[in-house]
Amino acid sequence: MKVNGTPYRTIWLAEDGWAAEIIDQTKLPHEFITVRLETMQDAAIAIKDMWVRGAPLIGATAAYGVALAMRQDVSDANLAAMYDHLFATRPTAVNLRWALDDMKSLLTPLPESERQAAAYKRAAEICDEDVEICSNIGEHGAAIIKAISEKKNGATVNILTHCNAGWLATVDWGTALAPIYKAFNAGIDVHVWADETRPRNQGASLTAWELGQHGVPHTVIVDNVGGHLMQHGEVDLVITGTDRTTFTGDVCNKIGTYLKALAAHDNDVPFYVGLPSPTIDWTVEDGVRDIPIEERDATEVTVMTGRDSSGAVSDVQITPDGSPAANYAFDVTPRRLVTGLITERGVSEASAEGLKKLFPEFA
Ligand code: MRU
Repeated sequence: MKVNGTPYRTIWLAEDGWAAEIIDQTKLPHEFITVRLETMQDAAIAIKDMWVRGAPLIGATAAYGVALAMRQDVSDANLAAMYDHLFATRPTAVNLRWALDDMKSLLTPLPESERQAAAYKRAAEICDEDVEICSNIGEHGAAIIKAISEKKNGATVNILTHCNAGWLATVDWGTALAPIYKAFNAGIDVHVWADETRPRNQGASLTAWELGQHGVPHTVIVDNVGGHLMQHGEVDLVITGTDRTTFTGDVCNKIGTYLKALAAHDNDVPFYVGLPSPTIDWTVEDGVRDIPIEERDATEVTVMTGRDSSGAVSDVQITPDGSPAANYAFDVTPRRLVTGLITERGVSEASAEGLKKLFPEFA
Protein backbone atom coordinates (compact mmCIF):
# COMPACT_ATOMS: atom_id res chain seq x y z
CA MET A 1 0.00 0.00 0.00
CA LYS A 2 1.07 3.59 -0.41
CA VAL A 3 2.26 6.20 2.09
CA ASN A 4 2.03 9.68 0.59
CA GLY A 5 2.03 8.03 -2.83
CA THR A 6 5.09 5.79 -2.22
CA PRO A 7 4.49 2.00 -2.12
CA TYR A 8 5.53 0.34 1.13
CA ARG A 9 5.43 -2.99 2.84
CA THR A 10 5.60 -3.10 6.65
CA ILE A 11 8.91 -4.98 6.66
CA TRP A 12 11.60 -5.20 4.02
CA LEU A 13 15.27 -5.97 3.55
CA ALA A 14 17.48 -2.87 3.75
CA GLU A 15 19.58 -1.83 0.77
CA ASP A 16 22.66 -3.39 2.39
CA GLY A 17 20.94 -6.76 1.98
CA TRP A 18 21.11 -7.91 5.60
CA ALA A 19 19.28 -5.58 8.01
CA ALA A 20 15.49 -5.58 8.12
CA GLU A 21 13.59 -2.32 8.06
CA ILE A 22 10.20 -1.64 9.60
CA ILE A 23 7.79 1.21 10.20
CA ASP A 24 7.75 2.21 13.88
CA GLN A 25 3.99 1.93 14.40
CA THR A 26 4.15 3.43 17.90
CA LYS A 27 4.80 6.79 16.22
CA LEU A 28 1.78 6.70 13.89
CA PRO A 29 -0.33 8.61 13.00
CA HIS A 30 1.70 11.64 13.99
CA GLU A 31 5.08 10.64 12.56
CA PHE A 32 6.14 8.19 9.84
CA ILE A 33 9.49 6.74 10.92
CA THR A 34 11.34 3.70 9.63
CA VAL A 35 13.75 1.73 11.82
CA ARG A 36 16.59 -0.70 11.05
CA LEU A 37 16.65 -4.03 12.85
CA GLU A 38 20.26 -5.25 12.98
CA THR A 39 20.13 -8.07 15.49
CA MET A 40 17.75 -10.76 16.69
CA GLN A 41 17.44 -8.75 19.90
CA ASP A 42 16.29 -5.70 17.87
CA ALA A 43 13.58 -7.82 16.27
CA ALA A 44 12.45 -9.09 19.67
CA ILE A 45 12.20 -5.55 21.05
CA ALA A 46 10.28 -4.42 17.97
CA ILE A 47 7.70 -7.16 18.58
CA LYS A 48 7.52 -6.85 22.37
CA ASP A 49 7.25 -3.06 22.39
CA MET A 50 4.83 -3.12 19.45
CA TRP A 51 6.82 -1.09 16.93
CA VAL A 52 5.40 -3.87 14.77
CA ARG A 53 2.18 -5.60 15.74
CA GLY A 54 -0.65 -7.58 14.19
CA ALA A 55 -0.42 -11.35 14.05
CA PRO A 56 0.97 -11.81 10.50
CA LEU A 57 3.53 -9.02 10.88
CA ILE A 58 4.66 -10.43 14.22
CA GLY A 59 5.33 -13.72 12.39
CA ALA A 60 7.18 -12.02 9.53
CA THR A 61 9.33 -9.98 11.93
CA ALA A 62 10.17 -13.10 13.91
CA ALA A 63 11.27 -14.78 10.67
CA TYR A 64 13.67 -11.89 9.99
CA GLY A 65 14.71 -12.08 13.64
CA VAL A 66 15.81 -15.66 13.00
CA ALA A 67 17.72 -14.59 9.88
CA LEU A 68 19.50 -11.90 11.91
CA ALA A 69 20.25 -14.48 14.61
CA MET A 70 21.85 -16.72 11.98
CA ARG A 71 24.00 -13.79 10.86
CA GLN A 72 25.21 -13.48 14.46
CA ASP A 73 25.79 -17.17 15.20
CA VAL A 74 24.73 -20.23 13.18
CA SER A 75 25.21 -22.77 15.96
CA ASP A 76 22.56 -25.22 17.23
CA ALA A 77 22.81 -23.52 20.61
CA ASN A 78 21.90 -20.18 19.09
CA LEU A 79 19.03 -21.74 17.14
CA ALA A 80 17.52 -22.90 20.42
CA ALA A 81 18.26 -19.66 22.25
CA MET A 82 16.85 -17.40 19.55
CA TYR A 83 13.66 -19.50 19.44
CA ASP A 84 13.10 -19.01 23.17
CA HIS A 85 14.01 -15.33 23.08
CA LEU A 86 11.65 -14.47 20.22
CA PHE A 87 8.88 -16.79 21.43
CA ALA A 88 8.75 -14.96 24.77
CA THR A 89 7.90 -11.59 23.18
CA ARG A 90 4.11 -11.87 22.83
CA PRO A 91 1.96 -14.84 23.85
CA THR A 92 -1.33 -14.65 21.93
CA ALA A 93 -0.71 -14.28 18.18
CA VAL A 94 -0.02 -17.82 17.01
CA ASN A 95 1.77 -16.60 13.87
CA LEU A 96 4.81 -16.06 16.10
CA ARG A 97 5.04 -19.76 16.95
CA TRP A 98 4.13 -20.70 13.39
CA ALA A 99 6.99 -18.63 11.91
CA LEU A 100 9.53 -19.79 14.50
CA ASP A 101 8.60 -23.46 14.00
CA ASP A 102 8.79 -23.02 10.24
CA MET A 103 12.24 -21.43 10.41
CA LYS A 104 13.60 -23.85 13.00
CA SER A 105 12.47 -26.97 11.15
CA LEU A 106 14.05 -25.64 7.95
CA LEU A 107 17.37 -24.68 9.56
CA THR A 108 17.97 -27.49 12.05
CA PRO A 109 18.87 -30.22 9.52
CA LEU A 110 21.06 -27.89 7.40
CA PRO A 111 24.84 -27.70 7.73
CA GLU A 112 25.85 -24.55 9.61
CA SER A 113 27.43 -23.07 6.46
CA GLU A 114 24.03 -22.97 4.73
CA ARG A 115 21.89 -21.68 7.56
CA GLN A 116 22.28 -17.94 7.14
CA ALA A 117 21.41 -17.85 3.43
CA ALA A 118 18.52 -20.27 3.92
CA ALA A 119 17.10 -18.18 6.77
CA TYR A 120 17.11 -14.96 4.75
CA LYS A 121 15.55 -16.76 1.77
CA ARG A 122 12.75 -18.26 3.88
CA ALA A 123 12.05 -14.98 5.71
CA ALA A 124 11.57 -13.26 2.36
CA GLU A 125 9.30 -16.10 1.21
CA ILE A 126 7.18 -15.84 4.38
CA CYS A 127 6.68 -12.14 3.63
CA ASP A 128 5.75 -12.79 -0.01
CA GLU A 129 3.39 -15.59 1.01
CA ASP A 130 1.67 -13.29 3.49
CA VAL A 131 1.07 -10.71 0.76
CA GLU A 132 -0.42 -13.40 -1.48
CA ILE A 133 -2.59 -14.81 1.32
CA CYS A 134 -3.92 -11.37 2.27
CA SER A 135 -4.59 -10.46 -1.34
CA ASN A 136 -6.67 -13.62 -1.71
CA ILE A 137 -8.55 -12.91 1.53
CA GLY A 138 -9.27 -9.54 -0.03
CA GLU A 139 -10.78 -11.10 -3.16
CA HIS A 140 -13.01 -13.50 -1.22
CA GLY A 141 -14.12 -10.82 1.23
CA ALA A 142 -14.77 -8.27 -1.52
CA ALA A 143 -17.29 -10.70 -3.04
CA ILE A 144 -19.26 -10.54 0.24
CA ILE A 145 -19.19 -6.74 0.21
CA LYS A 146 -20.21 -6.70 -3.46
CA ALA A 147 -23.23 -8.91 -2.76
CA ILE A 148 -24.36 -6.56 0.03
CA SER A 149 -23.83 -3.55 -2.23
CA GLU A 150 -26.00 -5.14 -4.94
CA LYS A 151 -28.70 -5.91 -2.40
CA LYS A 152 -28.63 -2.24 -1.39
CA ASN A 153 -28.81 -1.12 -5.06
CA GLY A 154 -25.35 0.42 -4.83
CA ALA A 155 -25.98 2.41 -1.64
CA THR A 156 -23.04 2.77 0.75
CA VAL A 157 -21.97 -0.45 2.48
CA ASN A 158 -21.13 0.39 6.12
CA ILE A 159 -18.50 -1.90 7.60
CA LEU A 160 -17.45 -1.88 11.23
CA THR A 161 -13.96 -3.04 12.15
CA HIS A 162 -12.08 -3.33 15.43
CA CYS A 163 -8.40 -2.77 16.16
CA ASN A 164 -6.10 -2.66 13.13
CA ALA A 165 -6.16 -5.63 10.82
CA GLY A 166 -5.09 -3.65 7.80
CA TRP A 167 -1.84 -3.65 5.86
CA LEU A 168 0.02 -2.34 8.90
CA ALA A 169 -0.84 -5.57 10.73
CA THR A 170 0.41 -7.79 7.91
CA VAL A 171 3.14 -7.43 5.29
CA ASP A 172 0.68 -5.84 2.86
CA TRP A 173 -3.09 -5.60 2.18
CA GLY A 174 -4.25 -6.67 5.66
CA THR A 175 -6.81 -9.29 6.60
CA ALA A 176 -10.01 -7.51 7.71
CA LEU A 177 -9.21 -4.45 5.59
CA ALA A 178 -8.08 -6.31 2.44
CA PRO A 179 -11.71 -6.98 1.36
CA ILE A 180 -12.47 -3.29 1.94
CA TYR A 181 -9.50 -2.14 -0.14
CA LYS A 182 -10.40 -4.55 -2.94
CA ALA A 183 -14.08 -3.49 -2.88
CA PHE A 184 -13.11 0.20 -2.81
CA ASN A 185 -10.65 -0.30 -5.68
CA ALA A 186 -13.45 -1.98 -7.67
CA GLY A 187 -15.61 1.13 -7.30
CA ILE A 188 -17.97 -0.18 -4.61
CA ASP A 189 -19.27 2.54 -2.29
CA VAL A 190 -17.93 1.62 1.15
CA HIS A 191 -17.65 3.40 4.47
CA VAL A 192 -15.78 2.09 7.52
CA TRP A 193 -16.67 2.56 11.18
CA ALA A 194 -13.26 2.31 12.87
CA ASP A 195 -13.45 1.41 16.57
CA GLU A 196 -10.81 3.45 18.41
CA THR A 197 -9.75 0.25 20.26
CA ARG A 198 -8.61 1.21 23.73
CA PRO A 199 -6.18 1.06 25.34
CA ARG A 200 -3.61 1.39 22.56
CA ASN A 201 -6.01 2.91 20.04
CA GLN A 202 -4.91 0.87 17.03
CA GLY A 203 -8.21 1.77 15.34
CA ALA A 204 -7.96 5.50 15.92
CA SER A 205 -4.23 5.69 15.20
CA LEU A 206 -3.55 3.01 12.59
CA THR A 207 -6.77 1.94 10.87
CA ALA A 208 -7.89 5.54 10.40
CA TRP A 209 -4.42 6.49 9.14
CA GLU A 210 -4.09 3.73 6.58
CA LEU A 211 -7.68 4.10 5.33
CA GLY A 212 -7.05 7.82 4.97
CA GLN A 213 -3.83 7.19 3.03
CA HIS A 214 -5.82 5.07 0.57
CA GLY A 215 -8.77 7.47 0.40
CA VAL A 216 -11.32 5.07 1.91
CA PRO A 217 -14.21 6.94 3.62
CA HIS A 218 -14.21 6.20 7.33
CA THR A 219 -15.35 7.49 10.72
CA VAL A 220 -13.58 6.83 14.02
CA ILE A 221 -15.95 5.86 16.83
CA VAL A 222 -15.32 5.08 20.48
CA ASP A 223 -15.47 1.43 21.39
CA ASN A 224 -18.97 1.46 22.83
CA VAL A 225 -20.77 2.93 19.81
CA GLY A 226 -21.02 -0.20 17.66
CA GLY A 227 -24.10 -1.65 19.38
CA HIS A 228 -26.02 1.59 18.99
CA LEU A 229 -25.13 1.83 15.29
CA MET A 230 -26.20 -1.75 14.71
CA GLN A 231 -29.57 -1.17 16.40
CA HIS A 232 -30.15 1.71 14.00
CA GLY A 233 -29.25 -0.17 10.80
CA GLU A 234 -25.99 1.71 10.34
CA VAL A 235 -23.76 -1.37 10.08
CA ASP A 236 -24.13 -3.80 7.16
CA LEU A 237 -21.38 -6.11 8.30
CA VAL A 238 -18.52 -6.42 10.76
CA ILE A 239 -15.10 -7.65 9.66
CA THR A 240 -12.30 -8.13 12.17
CA GLY A 241 -8.93 -9.79 12.13
CA THR A 242 -7.71 -12.51 14.46
CA ASP A 243 -4.57 -13.35 16.41
CA ARG A 244 -5.40 -17.00 16.79
CA THR A 245 -8.38 -19.02 15.62
CA THR A 246 -8.85 -22.56 16.88
CA PHE A 247 -9.37 -25.38 14.40
CA THR A 248 -12.95 -25.43 15.70
CA GLY A 249 -13.54 -21.78 14.74
CA ASP A 250 -13.24 -19.85 18.03
CA VAL A 251 -11.74 -16.45 17.22
CA CYS A 252 -9.24 -14.74 19.50
CA ASN A 253 -8.76 -11.09 18.63
CA LYS A 254 -8.15 -7.68 20.19
CA ILE A 255 -10.03 -7.07 23.45
CA GLY A 256 -13.58 -5.92 22.73
CA THR A 257 -14.11 -8.05 19.65
CA TYR A 258 -16.37 -10.42 21.62
CA LEU A 259 -18.71 -7.58 22.60
CA LYS A 260 -18.99 -6.50 18.95
CA ALA A 261 -19.86 -10.07 17.97
CA LEU A 262 -22.57 -10.21 20.66
CA ALA A 263 -24.07 -6.95 19.43
CA ALA A 264 -23.88 -8.13 15.82
CA HIS A 265 -25.62 -11.39 16.73
CA ASP A 266 -28.39 -9.54 18.58
CA ASN A 267 -28.98 -7.31 15.56
CA ASP A 268 -28.63 -9.88 12.75
CA VAL A 269 -25.54 -8.14 11.43
CA PRO A 270 -23.11 -10.58 9.71
CA PHE A 271 -19.84 -10.94 11.63
CA TYR A 272 -16.88 -12.03 9.48
CA VAL A 273 -13.24 -12.62 10.35
CA GLY A 274 -10.27 -12.28 7.96
CA LEU A 275 -8.24 -15.40 8.69
CA PRO A 276 -4.89 -16.26 7.07
CA SER A 277 -4.09 -19.96 7.47
CA PRO A 278 -0.94 -19.36 9.60
CA THR A 279 -3.30 -17.84 12.21
CA ILE A 280 -5.19 -21.12 12.65
CA ASP A 281 -4.08 -23.04 15.72
CA TRP A 282 -4.54 -26.71 14.79
CA THR A 283 -3.67 -27.76 18.36
CA VAL A 284 -6.35 -25.88 20.31
CA GLU A 285 -10.00 -26.91 20.41
CA ASP A 286 -11.52 -24.60 23.02
CA GLY A 287 -10.42 -21.00 22.51
CA VAL A 288 -11.92 -19.54 25.69
CA ARG A 289 -10.24 -22.13 27.85
CA ASP A 290 -6.91 -22.66 26.14
CA ILE A 291 -5.69 -19.57 24.29
CA PRO A 292 -3.20 -17.59 26.41
CA ILE A 293 -4.43 -14.01 26.77
CA GLU A 294 -1.70 -11.39 26.92
CA GLU A 295 -1.87 -8.99 29.88
CA ARG A 296 0.04 -5.82 29.25
CA ASP A 297 1.31 -2.98 31.40
CA ALA A 298 -1.38 -1.03 33.28
CA THR A 299 0.07 2.27 32.08
CA GLU A 300 -1.43 1.55 28.64
CA VAL A 301 -4.82 2.00 30.36
CA THR A 302 -3.97 4.88 32.69
CA VAL A 303 -1.94 7.01 30.25
CA MET A 304 -2.90 8.16 26.77
CA THR A 305 -0.65 9.58 24.09
CA GLY A 306 -1.71 12.30 21.69
CA ARG A 307 -0.79 15.51 19.93
CA ASP A 308 -1.61 18.72 21.72
CA SER A 309 -2.63 22.01 20.13
CA SER A 310 1.01 23.10 19.84
CA GLY A 311 1.70 20.03 17.70
CA ALA A 312 3.77 18.27 20.37
CA VAL A 313 3.14 14.59 21.03
CA SER A 314 2.88 13.86 24.73
CA ASP A 315 1.45 11.49 27.33
CA VAL A 316 -1.35 12.36 29.74
CA GLN A 317 -2.57 10.40 32.75
CA ILE A 318 -6.37 9.93 32.70
CA THR A 319 -6.91 8.08 36.00
CA PRO A 320 -6.53 9.16 39.64
CA ASP A 321 -3.13 8.57 41.23
CA GLY A 322 -3.16 5.15 42.82
CA SER A 323 -6.14 3.57 40.98
CA PRO A 324 -5.05 0.16 39.77
CA ALA A 325 -5.81 -0.80 36.15
CA ALA A 326 -6.05 -4.16 34.40
CA ASN A 327 -4.99 -4.56 30.78
CA TYR A 328 -6.22 -7.70 29.04
CA ALA A 329 -5.17 -7.42 25.41
CA PHE A 330 -7.35 -10.04 23.71
CA ASP A 331 -10.64 -11.90 24.07
CA VAL A 332 -12.22 -14.92 22.44
CA THR A 333 -15.37 -14.84 20.34
CA PRO A 334 -17.02 -18.27 20.39
CA ARG A 335 -17.65 -19.80 16.96
CA ARG A 336 -21.45 -19.62 17.35
CA LEU A 337 -21.22 -15.82 16.98
CA VAL A 338 -19.11 -15.91 13.79
CA THR A 339 -20.90 -15.80 10.42
CA GLY A 340 -17.86 -16.84 8.42
CA LEU A 341 -14.06 -17.04 8.30
CA ILE A 342 -12.62 -15.38 5.19
CA THR A 343 -9.50 -17.37 4.38
CA GLU A 344 -7.15 -17.29 1.41
CA ARG A 345 -8.92 -20.39 0.06
CA GLY A 346 -12.45 -19.06 0.41
CA VAL A 347 -15.06 -18.44 3.09
CA SER A 348 -15.51 -21.13 5.70
CA GLU A 349 -18.12 -21.57 8.37
CA ALA A 350 -16.59 -21.23 11.83
CA SER A 351 -16.33 -24.93 12.57
CA ALA A 352 -13.86 -27.80 12.47
CA GLU A 353 -15.74 -29.25 9.49
CA GLY A 354 -15.60 -25.98 7.56
CA LEU A 355 -11.89 -25.43 8.13
CA LYS A 356 -11.10 -29.09 7.46
CA LYS A 357 -12.79 -28.83 4.06
CA LEU A 358 -10.61 -25.86 3.07
CA PHE A 359 -7.38 -27.11 4.66
CA PRO A 360 -7.52 -30.92 4.48
CA GLU A 361 -3.72 -31.17 4.72
CA PHE A 362 -3.69 -29.82 8.29
CA ALA A 363 -6.74 -31.56 9.70
O1 MRU B 1 -2.06 -6.03 19.92
P1 MRU B 1 -2.03 -6.00 18.41
O2 MRU B 1 -2.06 -4.61 17.85
O3 MRU B 1 -0.89 -6.82 17.86
O4 MRU B 1 -3.38 -6.70 18.01
C1 MRU B 1 -3.71 -6.85 16.64
C2 MRU B 1 -5.01 -7.47 16.42
O5 MRU B 1 -5.71 -7.82 17.34
C3 MRU B 1 -5.40 -7.72 15.00
O6 MRU B 1 -6.79 -7.61 14.84
C4 MRU B 1 -4.96 -9.14 14.62
O7 MRU B 1 -3.61 -9.32 14.89
C5 MRU B 1 -5.21 -9.42 13.21
S1 MRU B 1 -3.99 -8.67 12.21
C6 MRU B 1 -4.25 -8.91 10.60
